[in-house]
Amino acid sequence: MARPRIALLALGGTIASPVDAAGTGATATLTADDIAGDLGMRAAVDLETRTLRMLASSNLTLDDVRDLARQIAATDADGIVVTVGTDALEEVAFALDASLAGDRPVVVTGAMRNVGHPGPDGPANLLGALRVAAHPDARGQGVLVVFADEVHSARYVRKTHTSSPATFRSPTLGPLGFLVEDRVRLPFARRRRPAAVPFGDGPLPSVALVRVTLGDDPALITAAASTGCAGLVLETFGAGHVAAAWLPALREAASRMPVVFASRTGSGELYEKLAAFPGSERDLRDAGLIPAGDLDGAKARLLLVLLLSSGADERGIRAAFADV
Ligand code: SIN
Repeated sequence: MARPRIALLALGGTIASPVDAAGTGATATLTADDIAGDLGMRAAVDLETRTLRMLASSNLTLDDVRDLARQIAATDADGIVVTVGTDALEEVAFALDASLAGDRPVVVTGAMRNVGHPGPDGPANLLGALRVAAHPDARGQGVLVVFADEVHSARYVRKTHTSSPATFRSPTLGPLGFLVEDRVRLPFARRRRPAAVPFGDGPLPSVALVRVTLGDDPALITAAASTGCAGLVLETFGAGHVAAAWLPALREAASRMPVVFASRTGSGELYEKLAAFPGSERDLRDAGLIPAGDLDGAKARLLLVLLLSSGADERGIRAAFADV
Protein backbone atom coordinates (compact mmCIF):
# COMPACT_ATOMS: atom_id res chain seq x y z
CA MET A 1 0.00 0.00 0.00
CA ALA A 2 1.31 3.48 -0.89
CA ARG A 3 2.55 5.50 2.07
CA PRO A 4 0.53 8.70 2.68
CA ARG A 5 2.31 11.78 1.38
CA ILE A 6 2.55 14.42 4.11
CA ALA A 7 3.89 17.95 3.67
CA LEU A 8 5.56 19.40 6.76
CA LEU A 9 5.60 23.21 6.64
CA ALA A 10 7.67 24.91 9.35
CA LEU A 11 7.35 28.51 10.51
CA GLY A 12 9.61 28.63 13.61
CA GLY A 13 8.61 28.89 17.28
CA THR A 14 9.85 26.93 20.27
CA ILE A 15 9.79 23.66 18.34
CA ALA A 16 12.50 25.17 16.10
CA SER A 17 14.41 26.99 18.87
CA PRO A 18 17.09 25.08 20.79
CA VAL A 19 18.51 26.60 23.98
CA ASP A 20 22.15 26.94 24.99
CA ALA A 21 23.88 25.06 27.83
CA ALA A 22 22.52 27.59 30.34
CA GLY A 23 18.95 26.89 29.13
CA THR A 24 18.53 30.35 27.59
CA GLY A 25 19.00 32.13 24.25
CA ALA A 26 16.13 30.40 22.42
CA THR A 27 15.77 31.57 18.84
CA ALA A 28 14.42 29.77 15.79
CA THR A 29 17.25 28.09 13.90
CA LEU A 30 15.93 24.60 13.07
CA THR A 31 14.59 23.79 9.60
CA ALA A 32 11.58 21.60 8.91
CA ASP A 33 13.99 18.77 8.13
CA ASP A 34 15.87 19.31 11.43
CA ILE A 35 12.57 19.26 13.33
CA ALA A 36 11.46 16.01 11.67
CA GLY A 37 14.88 14.55 12.61
CA ASP A 38 14.74 10.80 12.77
CA LEU A 39 11.18 10.47 14.07
CA GLY A 40 10.04 6.86 13.74
CA MET A 41 7.00 8.05 11.77
CA ARG A 42 9.25 9.11 8.90
CA ALA A 43 9.31 5.51 7.69
CA ALA A 44 5.51 5.27 7.67
CA VAL A 45 4.85 8.38 5.59
CA ASP A 46 6.35 9.93 2.50
CA LEU A 47 7.44 13.23 4.07
CA GLU A 48 8.16 16.42 2.15
CA THR A 49 9.64 19.17 4.33
CA ARG A 50 9.57 22.92 3.69
CA THR A 51 10.86 25.71 5.92
CA LEU A 52 8.63 28.71 5.22
CA ARG A 53 9.70 31.05 8.05
CA MET A 54 12.04 30.92 11.07
CA LEU A 55 10.23 33.33 13.37
CA ALA A 56 8.75 33.62 16.82
CA SER A 57 5.03 33.46 16.13
CA SER A 58 4.54 36.97 17.57
CA ASN A 59 6.56 38.22 14.57
CA LEU A 60 4.39 36.50 11.95
CA THR A 61 2.06 38.71 9.94
CA LEU A 62 -1.28 37.95 8.34
CA ASP A 63 0.54 38.10 5.00
CA ASP A 64 2.68 35.19 6.26
CA VAL A 65 -0.51 33.30 7.13
CA ARG A 66 -2.01 34.05 3.70
CA ASP A 67 1.17 32.73 2.09
CA LEU A 68 0.93 29.59 4.26
CA ALA A 69 -2.72 29.06 3.25
CA ARG A 70 -1.75 29.39 -0.42
CA GLN A 71 1.14 26.93 -0.06
CA ILE A 72 -1.21 24.44 1.59
CA ALA A 73 -3.81 24.86 -1.16
CA ALA A 74 -1.11 24.37 -3.81
CA THR A 75 0.44 21.18 -2.44
CA ASP A 76 -0.94 17.85 -3.63
CA ALA A 77 0.09 16.02 -0.44
CA ASP A 78 -2.50 13.78 1.23
CA GLY A 79 -2.16 15.68 4.50
CA ILE A 80 -0.36 18.73 5.84
CA VAL A 81 1.39 19.39 9.16
CA VAL A 82 2.28 22.94 10.14
CA THR A 83 4.74 23.69 12.95
CA VAL A 84 4.52 27.16 14.47
CA GLY A 85 5.16 28.99 17.75
CA THR A 86 2.50 28.44 20.36
CA ASP A 87 1.91 32.14 21.12
CA ALA A 88 -0.08 32.77 17.95
CA LEU A 89 -0.75 29.11 17.09
CA GLU A 90 -4.49 29.37 17.76
CA GLU A 91 -4.75 32.34 15.39
CA VAL A 92 -2.74 30.70 12.61
CA ALA A 93 -4.81 27.52 12.96
CA PHE A 94 -8.13 29.40 13.00
CA ALA A 95 -7.22 31.53 9.98
CA LEU A 96 -6.39 28.35 8.05
CA ASP A 97 -9.59 26.68 9.23
CA ALA A 98 -11.74 29.63 8.20
CA SER A 99 -10.05 30.18 4.83
CA LEU A 100 -9.25 26.72 3.44
CA ALA A 101 -11.86 24.61 1.68
CA GLY A 102 -11.60 20.87 1.20
CA ASP A 103 -11.36 17.70 3.25
CA ARG A 104 -7.62 17.14 3.42
CA PRO A 105 -6.26 16.93 6.97
CA VAL A 106 -4.34 20.03 8.04
CA VAL A 107 -2.78 19.65 11.49
CA VAL A 108 -1.00 22.38 13.43
CA THR A 109 1.44 21.75 16.26
CA GLY A 110 4.42 23.22 18.12
CA ALA A 111 6.22 22.84 21.42
CA MET A 112 6.36 24.44 24.85
CA ARG A 113 9.76 23.02 25.89
CA ASN A 114 12.77 23.74 23.75
CA VAL A 115 15.33 21.21 22.60
CA GLY A 116 18.06 21.45 25.29
CA HIS A 117 15.55 21.62 28.15
CA PRO A 118 14.58 18.46 30.02
CA GLY A 119 11.64 16.73 28.31
CA PRO A 120 11.18 18.73 25.11
CA ASP A 121 7.64 18.08 23.85
CA GLY A 122 8.21 18.95 20.17
CA PRO A 123 9.07 15.43 18.94
CA ALA A 124 6.00 13.84 20.59
CA ASN A 125 3.72 16.63 19.35
CA LEU A 126 5.09 16.34 15.82
CA LEU A 127 4.80 12.57 15.83
CA GLY A 128 1.18 12.89 16.96
CA ALA A 129 0.46 15.55 14.32
CA LEU A 130 1.91 13.32 11.57
CA ARG A 131 -0.17 10.38 12.76
CA VAL A 132 -3.33 12.48 12.72
CA ALA A 133 -2.54 14.02 9.30
CA ALA A 134 -2.13 10.49 7.87
CA HIS A 135 -5.30 9.15 9.48
CA PRO A 136 -8.50 8.75 7.42
CA ASP A 137 -10.72 9.93 10.30
CA ALA A 138 -9.04 13.35 10.19
CA ARG A 139 -10.50 14.04 6.75
CA GLY A 140 -13.27 16.62 6.68
CA GLN A 141 -12.63 17.76 10.28
CA GLY A 142 -11.28 21.18 9.40
CA VAL A 143 -7.93 22.26 10.74
CA LEU A 144 -6.85 20.30 13.81
CA VAL A 145 -4.38 21.17 16.56
CA VAL A 146 -2.43 18.28 18.07
CA PHE A 147 -0.71 18.97 21.37
CA ALA A 148 0.11 16.86 24.44
CA ASP A 149 -1.60 13.78 22.96
CA GLU A 150 -4.88 15.63 22.41
CA VAL A 151 -6.60 16.55 19.15
CA HIS A 152 -8.46 19.89 19.16
CA SER A 153 -10.51 21.70 16.56
CA ALA A 154 -8.86 24.97 15.45
CA ARG A 155 -12.35 26.43 15.66
CA TYR A 156 -12.34 26.23 19.46
CA VAL A 157 -8.78 25.79 20.73
CA ARG A 158 -6.96 28.39 22.86
CA LYS A 159 -3.58 28.70 24.52
CA THR A 160 -4.44 28.79 28.22
CA HIS A 161 -1.14 28.66 30.11
CA THR A 162 2.20 30.44 29.76
CA SER A 163 4.41 27.39 30.26
CA SER A 164 2.48 24.14 30.68
CA PRO A 165 2.94 21.55 27.88
CA ALA A 166 -0.83 20.95 28.23
CA THR A 167 -1.53 24.62 27.44
CA PHE A 168 -3.96 24.01 24.55
CA ARG A 169 -7.56 23.62 25.65
CA SER A 170 -10.97 24.01 24.05
CA PRO A 171 -12.96 25.43 26.97
CA THR A 172 -16.33 25.49 25.17
CA LEU A 173 -16.07 22.01 23.71
CA GLY A 174 -13.16 19.91 24.96
CA PRO A 175 -10.85 17.98 22.62
CA LEU A 176 -12.21 16.12 19.58
CA GLY A 177 -9.96 13.17 20.30
CA PHE A 178 -6.66 11.88 21.59
CA LEU A 179 -3.61 9.77 20.79
CA VAL A 180 -2.64 6.63 22.64
CA GLU A 181 0.50 4.61 21.80
CA ASP A 182 0.45 4.72 17.97
CA ARG A 183 -3.34 5.00 17.69
CA VAL A 184 -5.41 8.05 16.72
CA ARG A 185 -8.83 8.25 18.36
CA LEU A 186 -11.33 10.77 17.03
CA PRO A 187 -14.64 9.85 18.69
CA PHE A 188 -16.20 13.31 18.16
CA ALA A 189 -16.57 14.34 14.53
CA ARG A 190 -17.16 17.94 13.54
CA ARG A 191 -20.58 17.86 11.93
CA ARG A 192 -20.60 21.20 10.15
CA ARG A 193 -18.12 23.73 8.83
CA PRO A 194 -19.15 27.18 7.65
CA ALA A 195 -18.25 27.97 4.04
CA ALA A 196 -14.57 28.85 3.65
CA VAL A 197 -13.75 32.55 3.28
CA PRO A 198 -10.51 32.59 1.26
CA PHE A 199 -7.98 35.40 1.65
CA GLY A 200 -8.43 38.00 -1.07
CA ASP A 201 -5.55 39.54 -3.03
CA GLY A 202 -4.00 42.91 -2.20
CA PRO A 203 -3.23 44.53 1.14
CA LEU A 204 -5.03 42.90 4.06
CA PRO A 205 -7.39 45.20 5.98
CA SER A 206 -6.57 46.31 9.48
CA VAL A 207 -9.11 45.28 12.12
CA ALA A 208 -8.70 46.55 15.70
CA LEU A 209 -9.54 44.48 18.77
CA VAL A 210 -10.58 46.33 21.94
CA ARG A 211 -11.25 44.61 25.26
CA VAL A 212 -13.60 46.33 27.68
CA THR A 213 -12.53 46.61 31.32
CA LEU A 214 -14.17 47.99 34.42
CA GLY A 215 -14.47 51.76 34.40
CA ASP A 216 -12.78 52.20 31.00
CA ASP A 217 -13.07 55.40 28.98
CA PRO A 218 -15.29 55.15 25.85
CA ALA A 219 -12.77 57.44 24.14
CA LEU A 220 -10.79 54.24 23.60
CA ILE A 221 -13.37 53.15 21.04
CA THR A 222 -13.28 56.49 19.26
CA ALA A 223 -9.46 56.31 19.21
CA ALA A 224 -9.43 52.73 17.90
CA ALA A 225 -12.00 53.56 15.21
CA SER A 226 -9.82 56.49 14.09
CA THR A 227 -6.71 54.41 13.36
CA GLY A 228 -7.72 53.88 9.74
CA CYS A 229 -8.92 50.37 10.47
CA ALA A 230 -11.60 48.84 8.26
CA GLY A 231 -13.39 47.14 11.13
CA LEU A 232 -13.47 46.75 14.89
CA VAL A 233 -13.95 43.85 17.28
CA LEU A 234 -15.03 44.47 20.86
CA GLU A 235 -14.42 41.91 23.60
CA THR A 236 -17.25 42.57 26.02
CA PHE A 237 -17.99 41.52 29.55
CA GLY A 238 -19.77 38.18 30.01
CA ALA A 239 -22.44 37.23 27.51
CA GLY A 240 -22.23 40.56 25.62
CA HIS A 241 -22.28 43.50 28.02
CA VAL A 242 -20.59 46.91 28.20
CA ALA A 243 -20.99 50.03 30.32
CA ALA A 244 -23.91 52.09 28.99
CA ALA A 245 -21.49 55.02 28.64
CA TRP A 246 -19.82 53.16 25.74
CA LEU A 247 -22.97 52.99 23.62
CA PRO A 248 -22.76 56.40 21.84
CA ALA A 249 -19.14 55.76 20.74
CA LEU A 250 -20.02 52.23 19.63
CA ARG A 251 -23.09 53.42 17.73
CA GLU A 252 -20.99 56.03 15.97
CA ALA A 253 -18.24 53.51 15.07
CA ALA A 254 -20.84 50.99 13.83
CA SER A 255 -22.28 53.64 11.50
CA ARG A 256 -18.88 53.85 9.76
CA MET A 257 -17.52 50.28 9.77
CA PRO A 258 -18.44 46.73 10.79
CA VAL A 259 -18.15 46.42 14.58
CA VAL A 260 -18.32 42.86 15.88
CA PHE A 261 -18.72 41.93 19.54
CA ALA A 262 -17.45 38.80 21.27
CA SER A 263 -17.13 37.78 24.90
CA ARG A 264 -13.91 38.36 26.78
CA THR A 265 -14.58 35.20 28.85
CA GLY A 266 -13.00 32.95 26.22
CA SER A 267 -15.74 30.33 26.18
CA GLY A 268 -19.48 29.99 25.66
CA GLU A 269 -21.86 31.78 23.32
CA LEU A 270 -23.21 35.34 23.53
CA TYR A 271 -26.74 35.91 24.82
CA GLU A 272 -29.31 37.24 22.38
CA LYS A 273 -32.11 38.60 24.53
CA LEU A 274 -31.88 37.77 28.22
CA ALA A 275 -30.64 41.04 29.70
CA ALA A 276 -32.44 44.39 29.54
CA PHE A 277 -30.09 46.64 31.53
CA PRO A 278 -28.36 49.55 29.76
CA GLY A 279 -25.31 48.20 27.90
CA SER A 280 -26.84 44.72 27.48
CA GLU A 281 -26.51 42.43 24.46
CA ARG A 282 -29.77 43.92 23.15
CA ASP A 283 -28.35 47.43 23.26
CA LEU A 284 -25.26 46.31 21.35
CA ARG A 285 -27.39 44.74 18.62
CA ASP A 286 -29.63 47.81 18.49
CA ALA A 287 -26.50 49.97 18.14
CA GLY A 288 -25.69 48.04 14.95
CA LEU A 289 -22.99 45.75 16.34
CA ILE A 290 -22.65 42.24 14.92
CA PRO A 291 -22.57 39.34 17.41
CA ALA A 292 -19.71 36.83 17.03
CA GLY A 293 -21.66 33.85 18.45
CA ASP A 294 -19.14 31.69 20.29
CA LEU A 295 -16.01 33.02 18.60
CA ASP A 296 -13.57 34.77 20.91
CA GLY A 297 -12.25 38.23 20.03
CA ALA A 298 -9.06 37.09 18.28
CA LYS A 299 -10.93 34.57 16.13
CA ALA A 300 -13.72 37.05 15.35
CA ARG A 301 -11.06 39.55 14.26
CA LEU A 302 -9.52 37.03 11.86
CA LEU A 303 -12.89 36.15 10.37
CA LEU A 304 -13.63 39.86 9.86
CA VAL A 305 -10.21 40.33 8.19
CA LEU A 306 -10.99 37.43 5.83
CA LEU A 307 -14.48 38.74 5.04
CA LEU A 308 -13.27 42.28 4.36
CA SER A 309 -10.33 41.01 2.32
CA SER A 310 -12.64 38.85 0.21
CA GLY A 311 -14.86 41.89 -0.49
CA ALA A 312 -17.89 40.90 1.62
CA ASP A 313 -20.47 43.67 2.14
CA GLU A 314 -22.33 44.31 5.41
CA ARG A 315 -24.98 41.74 4.57
CA GLY A 316 -22.34 39.12 3.81
CA ILE A 317 -20.48 39.93 7.02
CA ARG A 318 -23.65 39.61 9.11
CA ALA A 319 -24.55 36.34 7.37
CA ALA A 320 -21.08 34.89 7.97
CA PHE A 321 -21.12 35.76 11.67
CA ALA A 322 -24.65 34.35 11.99
CA ASP A 323 -23.32 31.07 10.59
CA VAL A 324 -20.18 30.59 12.70
C1 SIN B 1 6.50 31.48 19.77
O1 SIN B 1 5.28 31.52 19.80
O2 SIN B 1 7.14 31.56 18.72
C2 SIN B 1 7.29 31.35 21.04
C3 SIN B 1 6.63 30.50 22.06
C4 SIN B 1 6.41 29.07 21.65
O3 SIN B 1 6.57 28.62 20.55
O4 SIN B 1 6.00 28.32 22.58
